[in-house]
Amino acid sequence: MPTALITGASAGLGRALATELATLGWRLVLTARGAARLEQAAAGLPNHAPVTTIVGDVADPEHRARLVSRINEFGRLDLLVNNASTLGPTPLRPLTALSPAELSNVFSVNVIAPFALTAALLPALTASRGVVLDISSDAAAEHYPEWGGYGASKAALDHLTLTFGVENLDIACYAVDPGDMRTDMQQAAFPGEDISDRKSPSVVVPALLNLIAARPPSGRYRAGEIAAHAAARVGATA
Ligand SMILES: NC(=O)c1ccc[n+]([C@@H]2O[C@H](COP(=O)([O-])OP(=O)(O)OC[C@H]3O[C@@H](n4cnc5c(N)ncnc54)[C@H](OP(=O)(O)O)[C@@H]3O)[C@@H](O)[C@H]2O)c1
Repeated sequence: MPTALITGASAGLGRALATELATLGWRLVLTARGAARLEQAAAGLPNHAPVTTIVGDVADPEHRARLVSRINEFGRLDLLVNNASTLGPTPLRPLTALSPAELSNVFSVNVIAPFALTAALLPALTASRGVVLDISSDAAAEHYPEWGGYGASKAALDHLTLTFGVENLDIACYAVDPGDMRTDMQQAAFPGEDISDRKSPSVVVPALLNLIAARPPSGRYRAGEIAAHAAARVGATA
């Protein structure tokens, strides 16, 4: 049974992706810090999906070791989704107002955790010719005032993702910019603002599934472009 580990699976994009993978019959290992919300997300999955929830912070090496240990018990991993992320302190602030400790925390969650999980799970991923899906941001490539810490962490994540890709040719490694989504993180970035014009995270999921299924070369992709390419392919064969 294809098996996926999704970090940050209790809300937003991670939860939406877990829902679709469950529908497709995947076995899921889901993690987030808040136990109640994670259990609620797991209980709401369709098809009585085989799901394991492991509560914890991806920045905690002991928690990561528990995740890796559970995957190794299964003996299979087809998809690692490094989705859990932090903006750092909010309201977002200029770099001069960000302390080294705060920036370090952002990197612990957004860079070190995906790096460590990918490295530890490489044997399982290689055995299944699996996929690493690292959720990036436009802030990795653009420079917005007050987004410097988060943006630098996503740029570093992209770099690690693409390097894992060229160093491990039996797996596919994707850094995907999902675009703006109507989630808790987006609301935290824009406190008090009406974010109802942003798309639901469920709108992004088909693009992620297309990427996994089509398996283009490892690289950085924008979710909107993946969907467009998939539509073009469907049109060409119709
Ligand atoms: N929303 C956007 O507009 C947008 C735009 C570009 C990129 N992104 C990226 O898309 C991804 C998903 O974001 P989202 O908007 O869906 O976020 P979200 O709705 O706020 O959900 C974040 C999820 O991650 C978990 N999480 C947060 N910190 C964690 C940690 N240290 N350890 C384990 N789990 C943690 C949260 O649960 P707990 O709090 O219980 O841990 C929750 O399940 C992120 O990588 C984000 O950077 C989002």
